[in-house]
Amino acid sequence: MPKPPVIVRTLPALRRALADLRGREATTALVPTMGALHDGHLALVRTAKRRADKVMVSIFVNPAQFAPHEDFGSYPRTWKTDVAKLAAEKVDLIWNPDVATMYPDGFATRITPEGPAMAGLEDKFRPHFFGGVATVVGKLFTQCRPDFALFGQKDYQQLKVVTRMARDLDLGVKVIGMTTVRERDGLAMSSRNLYLTPEQRQTATILYRAIKDASKRLRAGDELAAVMAAGAETIAAAGFTVDYFEARHAETLAPVSSIADGPLRLLVAAKIGNTRLIDNAAV
Ligand code: PAJ
Repeated sequence: MPKPPVIVRTLPALRRALADLRGREATTALVPTMGALHDGHLALVRTAKRRADKVMVSIFVNPAQFAPHEDFGSYPRTWKTDVAKLAAEKVDLIWNPDVATMYPDGFATRITPEGPAMAGLEDKFRPHFFGGVATVVGKLFTQCRPDFALFGQKDYQQLKVVTRMARDLDLGVKVIGMTTVRERDGLAMSSRNLYLTPEQRQTATILYRAIKDASKRLRAGDELAAVMAAGAETIAAAGFTVDYFEARHAETLAPVSSIADGPLRLLVAAKIGNTRLIDNAAV
């Protein structure tokens, strides 16, 4: 029987568990999550297992990255199945702090990321979001002190923000980005897919199809502004409210006007009913 993961909920217990885990030479990897784990998360865990001797997964639904009108209260919480999935992957440690441990009374210090966090994509529609993400990820990195941390390209701007922050603040953590895991029909796996009605779930496949289609047209030489406008229209016609459907420079996230400004990344965010979905892909 493999050892089940150690479950830790307080900082002193985390410190003791880390000392045990690291031993003398072991390398460690951290996969930060908000739980409601799916195969996208588990792909990060599997890569973490290959990269490091010991793997930690944090499960913390971070109130600081939700605006008051967003879904913090209703965000899916599936603790038991999450633990079973992580045990099956032979994860070594699950870090599951409560809100008071992460944000003790009087908490007054936040990380305010700039650069990729101000690209005018997610930040434009969720202005509080990257401050909340950077603050919690900064804390997770200093609490767990991993050698590596794995993040999904599914949240492309987040990956860029966290990579920049780890470098800028010399956190000593190498951030590794992993390709997006998709359902058979192309929909990017997301904890928020659980909110979709069967009909919305069908419609949601338009997001990745629109990205792939735009990508193909751009490679064929069609004009960028026209291609992106047509893609946004297709997504809207399917019943989504489109926050953005944009081509950006894949590294800097700066706006681009043609494929020659590349490498390009196409990014989309759109709402169907009350559910907001995001996706992206390379051109
Ligand atoms: P969460 O949405 O739970 O995602 C945790 C990690 O899984 C992120 O790095 C995300 O990009 C990755 N991920 C999600 N869906 C994926 C998919 N389909 N394929 C590959 N990777 C995928 O992102 C967050 O949590 C939070 O913002 C967090 C970083 C934990 C900070 O609170």
